[in-house]
Amino acid sequence: MNKSVNKTMAWKKLALHYRLHKKDEMKDLFAKDKNRAEKYTVNLGNLYLDYSKNRINSKTMRYLIDLTKEVKLRDKINAMFNGEKINITENRAVLHVALRNRQNTPIYVDGKDVMPDINAVLAKMKKFVDSVRFGKFKGATGKKLTNIVNIGIGGSDLGPFMATTALKEYWAKDMKCYFISNIDGSACEDVLSEVDPETTLFVVVSKTFTTIETLTNAKTCRKWLVDALGEPAVAKHFVAVSTNAQEVAKFGINTENMFGFWNFVGGRYSMWSAVGLSIALMIGMENFEKMLDGANAMDLHFKNTEFEHNIPVILGLLGVWYNNFFGFREHGVIPYDQDLRFLPKYLQQLDMESNGKFVDVNNQFVKYETGPIVFGGAGTDVQHSFFQLLHQGTKIVPLDLIVPAISHNEIGEHHEILVANALAQGEAMMRGKTVKEAAAELTKAGKTKEEVAKLKRYKSFRGNRPTNTIVIKKLDPYTLGMLVAMYEHKVFVQGVIWNIDSFDQMGVELGKQMALSILPELQGNAQGMHDSSTNKLIELIKKIRK
Ligand code: F6P
Repeated sequence: MNKSVNKTMAWKKLALHYRLHKKDEMKDLFAKDKNRAEKYTVNLGNLYLDYSKNRINSKTMRYLIDLTKEVKLRDKINAMFNGEKINITENRAVLHVALRNRQNTPIYVDGKDVMPDINAVLAKMKKFVDSVRFGKFKGATGKKLTNIVNIGIGGSDLGPFMATTALKEYWAKDMKCYFISNIDGSACEDVLSEVDPETTLFVVVSKTFTTIETLTNAKTCRKWLVDALGEPAVAKHFVAVSTNAQEVAKFGINTENMFGFWNFVGGRYSMWSAVGLSIALMIGMENFEKMLDGANAMDLHFKNTEFEHNIPVILGLLGVWYNNFFGFREHGVIPYDQDLRFLPKYLQQLDMESNGKFVDVNNQFVKYETGPIVFGGAGTDVQHSFFQLLHQGTKIVPLDLIVPAISHNEIGEHHEILVANALAQGEAMMRGKTVKEAAAELTKAGKTKEEVAKLKRYKSFRGNRPTNTIVIKKLDPYTLGMLVAMYEHKVFVQGVIWNIDSFDQMGVELGKQMALSILPELQGNAQGMHDSSTNKLIELIKKIRK
């Protein structure tokens, strides 16, 4: 049984250290140490993490590294990479790293090397992807399949959705990609009104193949296709990605058109498997494999680099420092890249479904905070919405600012303005502006004494707000792979520190169960045993729908 993390020596030292240093100003730390930026920058190839604008000093980092020792982070990393069943509640190995194990070294689960199966699915994907892209695998009426519709939800949607959007510069020019996830009929309607049945390939992605949203959407799309082209067209327009061949067959998709994956791949960690089929169809298998290469580079860095220079470890530790000592409960991710605008949405599932837990691996309720609330959006857009609160609100939200040095669309000054904004936000968050500075500025601008007195506080910024700046050279498949794997491992580090199982998601079950009991009540005369509010709402909506 692991010692509760808040009882470790390092935790206690960090608590004391926090009390001594909580008021330290980053701008003073920068003034005192000319090498601060250099000291707190690490890189892996063309991905640079500058974490100097954090409320840390060398002791903070030392104690945080001590914490990794006390929680045996190194052993836990090895356990994951070695295929041990670290998902203890489901008794499963956790091997998304095997999906991009480009060295192809054997990894055993229950005495069986998983690599041959992984390689076989990659080979099957390649064959299929090439034949669709080169027009060999055609639709029922002989037309090339140029519209890819991914039907899935959660991990069977967010990864492919985020990655295809991020890599749109690599799309085949004649192809388009659509996503249906929500059970709302409008989600189906939006896509089906855009595409032509003759040129559309539906990729139904569901690990379990029992998810009500995905199956309902897939049935609707199937009917739409059959109405247009007849039943035999299904074999030419539907493929499935799943671990459940039986359910796929039951749905009416030939299992020859099924791409498998395995229970050791969690939904939110699955875009590297056949779940990424839509990504591969859009960017080509070669680029998909470059994405795997990038993730693999981050895996090796995570596994082999000492923690002082280990990017995911540093990010994870900083998150713990803020979450558990400063009490900063949120974490913001701001990509300064339009094509990465869905990264925060993807990370919400990755992080919050993994670490939003209150029971630890010793089957005890935790007595400390676990996963943060993750949110974000593309810079500069979000600067014009929630950044007001980030600068002047009463809450402090540590941020990741992600900045590509080179844009795919270097039009005029656009990219330089974008980058200038990203860097300015990091500096402004750190430096702030004192009331005195605000007053001096107002005076210089010619305001009267009264006006200065009236406005100086409104115009002040407390600063001392932490940011990580993550610079990448350019958003390409390799770099996207690195970036996503970096966040996966950051989440892993935090899960280890909080001593929770980051790989189950039991918290999504209760609502699903209750929806299943309410459905027949909404549809008919069944009577449920709910609270009076829920009963009344069911009756109200039934009445309106009549
Ligand atoms: O509702 C949560 C969840 O189980 C996710 O973890 C998963 O990514 C999603 O539903 C979809 O599940 P499936 O791939 O089995 O349809």
